[in-house]
Amino acid sequence: MPRLSARFANFPAYPLAHIPARKKALLAAGVDVIDLGAGDADLAPPPAAVAALQRAATEPAMQRYGFGLGYVPYREAIAAWMKTRFGMSVDPMSEIVPLLGSKEGLAHVAFAFLGPGDVGIIPDPAYQAYIGGTLLSDATPYVYALRPRTNFLIDLDEIPTDVLARTRVLYLNYPNNPTAAIAPKDYLARVVQTCHDRDILLVYDNAYSEMGFDGYVPPSIFEIDGARDVAIEFHSLSKTYNMTGWRCGWSVAKPELSSALAKVKAFTDTGQYMGIQAAGVAAIESWSAFVPQNLATFAARRDAAVTAFRAHGFTADTPQATMYLWMPLPEGIASREFADRVREEAGVIVLPGSGFGEGGEGFFRISFIQSPARIEEAARRAGAVLQVMQQEMHATSGDIAVAGAAGT
Ligand SMILES: Cc1ncc(COP(=O)(O)O)c(C=O)c1O
Repeated sequence: MPRLSARFANFPAYPLAHIPARKKALLAAGVDVIDLGAGDADLAPPPAAVAALQRAATEPAMQRYGFGLGYVPYREAIAAWMKTRFGMSVDPMSEIVPLLGSKEGLAHVAFAFLGPGDVGIIPDPAYQAYIGGTLLSDATPYVYALRPRTNFLIDLDEIPTDVLARTRVLYLNYPNNPTAAIAPKDYLARVVQTCHDRDILLVYDNAYSEMGFDGYVPPSIFEIDGARDVAIEFHSLSKTYNMTGWRCGWSVAKPELSSALAKVKAFTDTGQYMGIQAAGVAAIESWSAFVPQNLATFAARRDAAVTAFRAHGFTADTPQATMYLWMPLPEGIASREFADRVREEAGVIVLPGSGFGEGGEGFFRISFIQSPARIEEAARRAGAVLQVMQQEMHATSGDIAVAGAAGT
């Protein structure tokens, strides 16, 4: 067996990788599984995107390599949308990098900006591409626990100065997966200032920019003064247009930063299928016809989820953004055990907080990827399991108290 590299031999297992296989086994056993796991909605993409892909599939010119340049109208549609949505002027050719989904860009950008001895600051819990890219670049992750104490924000003032001095990349994601937290603009302004002062690349993951509720409109990092100098922002069609499987996203940054990511990608992929980029144009151009009503569907699911999980014994804040509820578990109930038992005993897939990093312990996440009725049923089943676990816990602690009493 050829030997694994030292870097890879110590690579952590990808969390939650066991869940799809367990789901399949439960379904095969006839269980009525309700999957509220991955952020992967059951809803349809914009019809215009589907039609554009169908058309593209019949055009010989669209079947060729896209290379890094890709389908130029895709770049132009992104630039036009960035202008309408965030008021930002972007040069389509030098400031946008088309991506095969934003995940690969989030991981690959680290290759250009991190190396041995460098630090990447990673929120925890977080989307795993950040730590993956950092470790694959042989850099050192500095993991910061996102907890209610700081409203799930990274407080850079709490990071030791010797760590900040070695930090080359800071990953931030608001609206946040998995905590559903949002970042106030004054907080973002302080972060941008620190990145300026210390020459840190701010990797701003904005995958949920179009998933704000109740009038909350998530900003671009580029709405913050000075961000153009230090930030690269990542966008995705996945959540906004129910196009997770299509693998289509982009980054935006000034040319010096964009070209570095584009260069890494030139050595690792040959571009997205241009037919998908053509569909991306149609999706982006259907924003006003599609996004508000799609968001209304998610808002109804969110409301159903908050009401139902509260009714069944959970604590749930109403999130202003994302497609997730991040709920605390009672003291003493480990998130992995809870998620395993809810899945195996009640056929409901929820994700344990610890699956997003140790900082997520004590919480679990559900996604609004099913109808309100199914979410309500899932909450009922999960609540029943929670009740049993609490009874078991109290019985055990009662036993210990009795045993203690007998021993005195
Ligand atoms: C925070 C965050 N960033 C990025 C992504 C990746 O999206 P894409 O499908 O564009 O790779 C996800 C997907 O779940 C996510 O939650």
